Amino acid sequence: MVLGAGSPSSAEAVARGAYLAAAAGCGGCHTDSERGGQAYAGGRRLATAFGIIATPNLTPDRATGIGRWSGADFIRAMRWGIAPDDTHYVPAFPFPFYNRLTDRDLADLKAFLDSLPAVSRPGIEGAGSTALLARAQVAVAVAATPSPGAWQDDPAKDPVWNRGAYLVASLGRCGECHTPRTLLGAPDPHRFLAGAPAGSDGKPAGKKFPNITSDRKSGIGNWSEDDILGVLTTGDTPTFDEVGGSMVEIVKNTARLSEPDRRAIAVYLKSVPAISSAEQK
Ligand code: HEC
Ligand code: HEC
Repeated sequence: MVLGAGSPSSAEAVARGAYLAAAAGCGGCHTDSERGGQAYAGGRRLATAFGIIATPNLTPDRATGIGRWSGADFIRAMRWGIAPDDTHYVPAFPFPFYNRLTDRDLADLKAFLDSLPAVSRPGIEGAGSTALLARAQVAVAVAATPSPGAWQDDPAKDPVWNRGAYLVASLGRCGECHTPRTLLGAPDPHRFLAGAPAGSDGKPAGKKFPNITSDRKSGIGNWSEDDILGVLTTGDTPTFDEVGGSMVEIVKNTARLSEPDRRAIAVYLKSVPAISSAEQK
């Protein structure tokens, strides 16, 4: 099936999907920029807690990409982390956050990926044997972690708050690094965005993920909405510092959001209940 051919509604879906993919950084992980790989054709080697994983090819190539995937295959992978062959992905692929994406956003992302030129990229090492073992273990952990599914707006809050909350929970995956894990490896619901000694990938050791709740002492409670907007736009903090580490790649993504979307994230973050880092065990 040839998608994106002419009809205005499909062109709109492709454009929306392109925006969402840019803001999520799908291309960042799924492009082997270091070795001159083509956009979205995979092969970037990511150092993860599950070993080195080369990302898969997301272009519509039928043999080495996802050109044979149905819309249902795509939703199952993105929302539940399950491959068409029923194996489970490791959460180096942020599917636990993409779990919250709406049906419409998932459909638009698929429309965008379908519109890309098919790139054949054979020989991506893919998930090696250690990753395969990890995948089996992940299947158990994922089954034990309730995934709420598509985001539902909170009718008691205004649309800007809801937009910000949605972006943080899904595409922005802020909790992946800024929320500590329970012993089972799931984000600790009692310490949402309260900072973590290490991210979901269990590394890099010693690199602290700051508390971004509205706590005035250990969080960013003293930051204004514009301060937060600033860091998400340029990476500059109100103390004339610049964020580093893994946040650099995230800022590349948030910088591609529209200003209203970035501001919505700032509005929402200001509302996140204060949790003190001092209470952390
Ligand atoms: C932080 C890096 C990262 C980001 C961001 C990311 N992915 Fe991935 N993705 C991965 C990794 C790693 C895998 C392979 C996981 C495995 O093999 O268990 C993967 C797997 C996939 C797969 C399964 C492909 C296959 O052939 O089985 C799809 C589909 C996918 N990603 C789509 C997306 C989309 C769409 C986005 C943006 C909304 C995205 N990814 C963002 C790292 C990422
Ligand atoms: C892949 C991990 C990762 C993700 C995902 C992530 N961050 Fe960060 N973030 C970091 C790290 C690491 C730092 C600390 C950077 C430094 O020390 O220079 C940081 C710093 C920050 C800071 C500055 C805090 C301070 O006290 O200086 C803010 C604000 C922030 N992140 C917001 C966000 C938001 C909002 C999201 C979601 C859109 C997000 N982060 C997603 C890793 C991440």
